[in-house]
Amino acid sequence: MNLEPATLPRHVAIIMDGNGRWARQQGKPRIMGHKAGVRSVQEVVRCARELGIGVLTLYAFSTENWRRPGTEVESLMGLLQTYLENQLDQMVENQVRLRTCGRRDHLPVKVRQVLENTIRETAGNDGLILNLALSYGGRDELVRAARQLAARAVKGELRPEEIDEEKVTAELDSAGLPDPDLLIRTGGEARLSNFLLWQLSYSELYFTRVLWPDFGREHFLAALADFQQRQRRFGRTGGQVAGEE
Ligand code: FPP
Repeated sequence: MNLEPATLPRHVAIIMDGNGRWARQQGKPRIMGHKAGVRSVQEVVRCARELGIGVLTLYAFSTENWRRPGTEVESLMGLLQTYLENQLDQMVENQVRLRTCGRRDHLPVKVRQVLENTIRETAGNDGLILNLALSYGGRDELVRAARQLAARAVKGELRPEEIDEEKVTAELDSAGLPDPDLLIRTGGEARLSNFLLWQLSYSELYFTRVLWPDFGREHFLAALADFQQRQRRFGRTGGQVAGEE
């Protein structure tokens, strides 16, 4: 795969879909699909890190996922906890910095503790930022940002006419991160499912039928190569090669 380092995306976001269908195809319980999905997470994180991509945002648990059966939610939380515990040394060694977006306050105490510990331990790293979307919903994030801005206006810190795109962006969980250049969704559906609604405004969208547990290095590289073929215009006329400022 011929990738041009200069035009790689700075930020890749992924909707990791298809774990349940993968498990069903194998005649296994759904949780086995999520477990296999953790292997894909590890492979894609390693690949992103090796390529020097700045930010990788993974949709690991949506606000809507709380409506799944309790056993599945518990298993997902358990997998997340184990993943973080197992990966800490490697993250530190490889300069990976952990961040989250979403309602961390809604997660079980144990998961929150391990997240906060990992965030603290990796805070000084300057390689890949691994941003996990947990109990995340794009609309929920925008509502929280609107509330923050309204509260500041009520306190007299901000006039309504001063609220602009920059101020909204600064109130989002992703404050300080560049917008995703590329969104990948596995599992064959072509929708956003309440993911990064504000941040994906100008992102290139890449949909693949590959189920998340089958998604590995070569699929990730194929998505990046496809991205590099695209002309990004950001609403303007004329061409701009993907990844160029
Ligand atoms: C969607 O597949 C996937 C999820 C809801 C969870 C994703 C979680 C992981 C990959 C593992 C844990 C994450 C980390 C970061 C360690 P689905 O269950 O909706 O699949 P289906 O559409 O085929 O039913």
